[in-house]
Amino acid sequence: MNFESKSLDLAAAAQEKCDLLVVLIPKDFKAGKDSFSQLVHAALKSGDLETSAGKCLSLYRPAQAAAVRVVLASTGEGKARQIRSAVQAALGAGKSSSLKRLVLCFATAASGEGLRAAMLTVADMTYAYTTSKSKPQPRSLQKMVLATPNAGDLKTTFDRTAAVVAGVELAKEWANRPANLATPTDLATAAQALGKLPKLSCTVLGPREVAKLGMGSFMAVAQGSDQPLRFIVLRYEGAAKNKAPTVLVGKGITFDSGGISIKPAAEMDEMKFDMAGAASVLGVFKSLALLKPAINVVGLIPSCENLINGKAVKPGDVVTSMSGQTIEILNTDAEGRLILCDALTYAERFKPSAVVDIATLTGACVVALGAVRSGMFSDRDELAQALSSAGDRAQDLCWRMPLDEDYAEGLKSNFADVANVAGRAAGAVTAAKFLQRFAEKFAWAHLDIAGSAWKGGAQKGATGRPVGLLVEYLLGPAQTK
Ligand code: BES
Ligand code: MN
Ligand code: ZN
Repeated sequence: MNFESKSLDLAAAAQEKCDLLVVLIPKDFKAGKDSFSQLVHAALKSGDLETSAGKCLSLYRPAQAAAVRVVLASTGEGKARQIRSAVQAALGAGKSSSLKRLVLCFATAASGEGLRAAMLTVADMTYAYTTSKSKPQPRSLQKMVLATPNAGDLKTTFDRTAAVVAGVELAKEWANRPANLATPTDLATAAQALGKLPKLSCTVLGPREVAKLGMGSFMAVAQGSDQPLRFIVLRYEGAAKNKAPTVLVGKGITFDSGGISIKPAAEMDEMKFDMAGAASVLGVFKSLALLKPAINVVGLIPSCENLINGKAVKPGDVVTSMSGQTIEILNTDAEGRLILCDALTYAERFKPSAVVDIATLTGACVVALGAVRSGMFSDRDELAQALSSAGDRAQDLCWRMPLDEDYAEGLKSNFADVANVAGRAAGAVTAAKFLQRFAEKFAWAHLDIAGSAWKGGAQKGATGRPVGLLVEYLLGPAQTK
């Protein structure tokens, strides 16, 4: 997606040539003397344009503008949510499928959150997946110009959001690909391509290296598939070598059949999205490559399939993780935690300032939070707070969940140090309690994105979340001038 920011008032924006001009109009709009403002004023005064957010009025080649089509869209009080619904309605009314050049204009000074909401919504609505179609219909939109009278003040938000969109779209692409076109080896190839960008590097470990590291838990999941596992290590070095990195760990199960504890057939196809955590890590590195911040970040992606061949791990098998802890695998469908625990142990070697894992980990998290907020777990208040507010700023929300020690009771095993599942109750929390045992040596947080990473039904597709949250967390709040 190609964004451009221009500092223009309404009169100047109306002179931009484009096939669609969307004008976002707040409730308290005051008309200037120019003919376009007068037109907006008349539309409001007559009641033909209502002032509640999402209400629109479409015009064709009005004399007051240079655009072919114009949509006036009300934004009410101008909150992010209202901007989102105004942009959705306007693009719906403006036949977004054949659009090439769009100018989106804020009739009065935009807020940072308003600008971000508009950019994210246009990008999301015009995104098109094409990889496995015989007649690809790519996004028609070639350029989106954001016109605001105060573009200069919003530069940081504009740049960050444009970079986030690039990361989100990479994450969507990989998460959307079917599992036969997104194997662990394919993911590793994608990571290696990213590794060629400035300040980035990538190394990939295969079955032999992983065995040598003693990742018995990760290997147990991978052994049921003919696809070889991959352990991907991405590095972004924007700061001095001695600056402790943040480590991101993304679950990269390219297909989750459940293993011997097999899943029901309905909607099993959606388990191609079980590498959405890994895809979000790839997306974050894409954003970092564009933004070039002065920080160090490591991305770790354990990737394999959870399948069922004759060698597949069986319920009751006990494996030894890289940490030395033994694990009784009571349910082979609780495989995410089994690959993440070894990646968390591997993260120790980077002496990280913090480790955040991102995983489509539990159906229970979908029940708890739905698609609105990702589940966030951390025993460090400062880290939890930073992730929460990053989610708020990015409009990519999360919600802190508990980690009381009593939740770990059910993970006790008679035959190993720990079991990989507890009972049905609080499934998202007991999964996090399992991971916590492997994250004692650093500040750690876990994001359960099972509900937020993709949409099912007619709109089936990856969301690219939580790339926005993670980028915002890594960069911290923008300096306001
Ligand atoms: N990948 C799934 C979690 C999942 C399920 C995400 C549905 C989104 C929608 C994970 O590997 C899994 O199967 N978890 C089990 C854990 C259970 C066996 C303790 C689950 O949630 O059912
Ligand atoms: Mn599973
Ligand atoms: Zn899974």
